[in-house]
Amino acid sequence: MIKEFGLEKIDESLLNRIKEYTKDLHPMLTRKIFFAHRDLKWLFDEYDKGNKFFIYTGCGPSGPIHIGHILVWYFTKWLQDKFDVDVYFQFTDDEKFMYKNLSYDEIQKWLNENLLDVIAVGFNPKRTHFIIDTKHAGLLYPKAIKVAKKITFSTIKSSFGFNDSTNIGSIFFTSMQTVPSFLPSVLKKKNIPCLIPHAVDQDPHFRLTRDILPKLGYYKPASIQCSFLPPLTGNEGKMSSSEAVKGILTTDTPQEIKKKINKYAFSGGQATLEEHRKKGGNPDVDVPFQYLKFLFEESDEKLNQLEQDYKSGKLLTGELKKYAIEKITEFMLEHQKRRESAKQKIPDFLLKC
Ligand code: TRP
Repeated sequence: MIKEFGLEKIDESLLNRIKEYTKDLHPMLTRKIFFAHRDLKWLFDEYDKGNKFFIYTGCGPSGPIHIGHILVWYFTKWLQDKFDVDVYFQFTDDEKFMYKNLSYDEIQKWLNENLLDVIAVGFNPKRTHFIIDTKHAGLLYPKAIKVAKKITFSTIKSSFGFNDSTNIGSIFFTSMQTVPSFLPSVLKKKNIPCLIPHAVDQDPHFRLTRDILPKLGYYKPASIQCSFLPPLTGNEGKMSSSEAVKGILTTDTPQEIKKKINKYAFSGGQATLEEHRKKGGNPDVDVPFQYLKFLFEESDEKLNQLEQDYKSGKLLTGELKKYAIEKITEFMLEHQKRRESAKQKIPDFLLKC
């Protein structure tokens, strides 16, 4: 994507610049989980001039939340805390209704569930504004049509691989996902820079957004992008919420977490104990190790130790799994505690309009 679509790598000098503002660096930055960006330098130049940005990210409600989703959101919360900025969080229930084979009621059920997970991340309620596409439609629609008028059928077909059998709602949808990137500028009647943290699969939407916003008189949004958490079974690529059985969910019990890791997590260890002691394991493909690296082990020192011990054969697959289970369980129990009390907080988070 860096070669083909002109994403920029986050290099050492940019990391140092981020550190000037945040004092410390989030492990997802130093470990290159968030590895690429567009226009971050510009965003910080504006910030230095006193032109503070807002953050925009989102969730497409079509199933339970798994750890691949929350990693972006926990990082977004860190950014919010460090820069003390507003977060606009979009729930694209329209998108998922049109793209997925699910009823409107099913999507609404997932919307209500997913709202709880986003609140459980711990965003600042005073600075966080939820936008639900079908609920805020009256606010979004007049802006969405301005975007839609700038996108041709041929552009949308080639951006998303649509064809003549694609429903017309999907064809329109990217206009809705563009709106939050300039909505605060409209509401506050001044141009405000926007930063979008997202996983790389959302890039087609935001490439279009970046083409269109200047034509409407707004800044192009900056972005910071992460790679995908490997699925439990370890194949390359995205962990989908429709494959819930395979992934670790925010609603899993400690028993479920334990079972999923022990039974399904792809291991980079050797087939026999003797072989493992002799040759060592491969942490790069080992899913429990990768989960610790992506989200659950905050200490670099500990992570490096695990990596070395695993490579040397000192640490066994079973031991690594046991440690990952402990860390994931500890994290999830805290998340679930906050999720429990999230329901009554929903009204505080909804964008007032
Ligand atoms: N389309 C995204 C999804 O399918 C949801 C989304 C909407 C989003 N706006 C966003 C994701 C902004 C990242 C950033 O999950």
